[in-house]
Amino acid sequence: MRPQIILITGANGEVGHGLIRQLAEQPDMPPVVVLDIRGLDERIHPLVYETKIGDILDTALLETLINEYEIVTIFHLAALLSTHSEFNPEGAHRVNVQGTVNLLHMATQQSRLRGEAVKFIFPSSIAVYGLPDLATKAAAGAVKEDEYTQPTTMYGCNKLYCEHLGRYYTFHYQQLAATNPLPGVDFRAVRFPGLISALTMPTGGTSDYAPEMLHAAAAGKDYDCFVREDARIPFMAMPDAISALLTLASTPAERLSRRVYNVTSFNPSAAELCDITRAAFPKANIHYAPHLKRQAIVDSWPADVDDTAARRDWGWKPAYDLQTAFGDYLIPTIAQQHHG
Ligand code: SER
Repeated sequence: MRPQIILITGANGEVGHGLIRQLAEQPDMPPVVVLDIRGLDERIHPLVYETKIGDILDTALLETLINEYEIVTIFHLAALLSTHSEFNPEGAHRVNVQGTVNLLHMATQQSRLRGEAVKFIFPSSIAVYGLPDLATKAAAGAVKEDEYTQPTTMYGCNKLYCEHLGRYYTFHYQQLAATNPLPGVDFRAVRFPGLISALTMPTGGTSDYAPEMLHAAAAGKDYDCFVREDARIPFMAMPDAISALLTLASTPAERLSRRVYNVTSFNPSAAELCDITRAAFPKANIHYAPHLKRQAIVDSWPADVDDTAARRDWGWKPAYDLQTAFGDYLIPTIAQQHHG
């Protein structure tokens, strides 16, 4: 018998770190095997069963994984974020789309071997939205999942298409085959807003001004914010992001009215983020130096998203609002890191 495991790709990213820490605290979870091109930070190494260093584009490596393990759930986190992707759009497409197809195919094969669907949990993003101008953004308010899905970034296009692929592999895979090809995979996605962790920093995203501002202030470094003071998109504290992934993963399929859900917590302007950071770190030296092209990406993302469906279907409710995210999680945890 192959041991049952949870597979996490892109595990060394900041969502991966948070997820591994959280899974390690949950009783009765299968052990975690991670796949990351960079290996795994040694601080969380003891929390996982095995680390595979490798590429999600390496299909031979993915085959060895299904030979060795019975994978019950995949958290497919590996991706190139929005800013990085614009410097190499075709490379981003390979990782973000072909990598996801490889994992979905592996999950399908695994589902057939098990006779039961493999859960495939996918972080999508507010980058799937594309609002044409600031007036439309202001008028749109909290956008629903099926509105304004005309992304302007390669990353947004990739995430939106992968959502469709997930639906296809779940409900329609090889629909013309002579024999019933089910069970398919059981794909579920959350569209994350910008994420802010007290413990890690994102790499290559466009919502990075929020965590960068905060961590620079905590470290006593100057910060040039690359968006205008009035830039506004939704954000979430990392523990809520992890709880969204785990809650969606554990919800019975019959309660899901859709497979892709908005989730959000708070949506401050850059100036409000700056104020709350300055209040915590009075010596913070933050200036605005908008990068017009990164600003344009942020301007194309909604000021808020409507997460009614997640609240209704699987009881989504963030633990932190803006004040408590900073007051109870970010500031004390960062302070502890600096003094601990
Ligand atoms: N945080 C991501 C980015 O900025 C959005 O999902 O690319």
